[in-house]
Amino acid sequence: MMRVSPGARVSPAAGSGNSRPARRRAAPGAAARKPSGVVAIRPARRADLDQVIEIDAIVTGLEKRNYWLSIFRRYGEGARPERHFLVAEVDGRVVGFVIGEVRDWEFGSPPCGWVFAINVAPDLRLAGVATRLLQALCEGFRRLGVRKLRTILARDNTLILSFFRSQGMMAGPFMPLEMDLDA
Ligand SMILES: CC(C)(COP(=O)(O)OP(=O)(O)OC[C@H]1O[C@@H](n2cnc3c(N)ncnc32)[C@H](O)[C@@H]1OP(=O)(O)O)[C@@H](O)C(=O)NCCC(=O)NCCS
Repeated sequence: MMRVSPGARVSPAAGSGNSRPARRRAAPGAAARKPSGVVAIRPARRADLDQVIEIDAIVTGLEKRNYWLSIFRRYGEGARPERHFLVAEVDGRVVGFVIGEVRDWEFGSPPCGWVFAINVAPDLRLAGVATRLLQALCEGFRRLGVRKLRTILARDNTLILSFFRSQGMMAGPFMPLEMDLDA
């Protein structure tokens, strides 16, 4: 695993975080990223989807409209209390989102909260937006009685790893396995 030294900044504008981490703190101009308005965290609405799709397309390089419509059907509009799809809004603009769910007895473990996706628009990173999104998700999980948060991330995504580590997340007791299936 790539080591991220204390104080090192992975380029916050990097897409999936596959680029090399920058071995320096954010440039002095980074303070300009501070949102000018109030950051509000709220459940996603259907009308937010275009902006969510745009942020995801910047991060992943792929526009996946049908995927996002199906995610919204499953996680949006209070579909089920254990499913959460939250957005961060500043001055009427959606600048980030988080998706998570409480899953019961998966892999034999008691109910725990999973965070599946968290993304912030590149021009508003390093301003605490993702921290606010994750806190709101965790509050929702706590209200459901959940006391454990889990996620899975790509090994080479040092940006998302740095973020989750900053929130106190550490390697858990499970490991992913996979294999190719013949056509
Ligand atoms: C990871 C991401 C969500 C962080 O969003 P953010 O709003 O910039 O995060 P925050 O401002 O709340 O940062 C909280 C902490 O995370 C860590 N962190 C965030 N960006 C970092 C960076 N570029 N380099 C190193 N550490 C970083 C820091 O410890 C930071 O705390 P600090 O600023 O007090 O040092 C955002 O960069 C992003 O959307 N990246 C792409 C996400 C992605 O790859 N998604 C696909 C998998 S779901």
